Amino acid sequence: MSRPLLLVDSGSGGFSVLDAIRARLPDLSYSYAADYAGCPYGDLDIEQIIMRVLSLVRAAQEQRQHGLIVVACNTASTLMLEHLRDEYAIPVVGVVPAIKPACAAYPGGKVLLLATPQTAHGAYLDHLESQFANGASIDRFASTELVRLAEKSLHRDQQMSAIAVAMAPVSGQRYDAVVLGCTHFPLLRSSLQQVFAGAELIDSSGGIAARVVSLGSGLLEFGADNAFYVTAQLAPPRNFLDRYALPAAQTIYLRNIGQ
Ligand code: DGL
Repeated sequence: MSRPLLLVDSGSGGFSVLDAIRARLPDLSYSYAADYAGCPYGDLDIEQIIMRVLSLVRAAQEQRQHGLIVVACNTASTLMLEHLRDEYAIPVVGVVPAIKPACAAYPGGKVLLLATPQTAHGAYLDHLESQFANGASIDRFASTELVRLAEKSLHRDQQMSAIAVAMAPVSGQRYDAVVLGCTHFPLLRSSLQQVFAGAELIDSSGGIAARVVSLGSGLLEFGADNAFYVTAQLAPPRNFLDRYALPAAQTIYLRNIGQ
């Protein structure tokens, strides 16, 4: 039996992943669950993030059953995919920073990872670097402010000056590639490209879309029957949601956590 896809994120970052999935599967039915009450996850500790994402997925599954889960959040994916795979029989796809393709494209090059603090300083990143560095030198820069600016950018123009200030500690350097290791950051792609002129900005969304296409065959429902779940009464503006054919947001309650 085919069922809709479920995407979860702390907020609106998962829309950058949804763009890549819909480019491959335009008529897909999906639910988007945004934990706006907990966003940004960069302000939370690891246990809180794990509890919130487990609870978010449970709450979305109570609304309707899904055929595949995409954790469209690097921070959560690097911490907790196994928890979800233990709990659900359906495929669970995570997103991790595109260190491997970036270092493969620039062997021995200079790569910058932009991510949340938990991702940038986490053990999973150490593992990616030791496996895939390919002789590249990798700088890591954590920014929660950039997540806040990405959320704000959905409501008003990208604030170039604020983005430049947030990136000031690393923007003076020359990089071959900048890995957008948080799904919020592609929402600021044009501004980040100005800050890192000459660098290739690389994210993971194309790889996730390919994985969804291959794992979702026969499992996923089509017909664009979409749902939008939020944990706080916050949402991107209507014209943004129209691009994703999403109905009005429905507030869901995260049990044992509060909003
Ligand atoms: N979009 C998420 C990520 O990819 C989390 C951002 C946040 O809430 O701090 O890491």
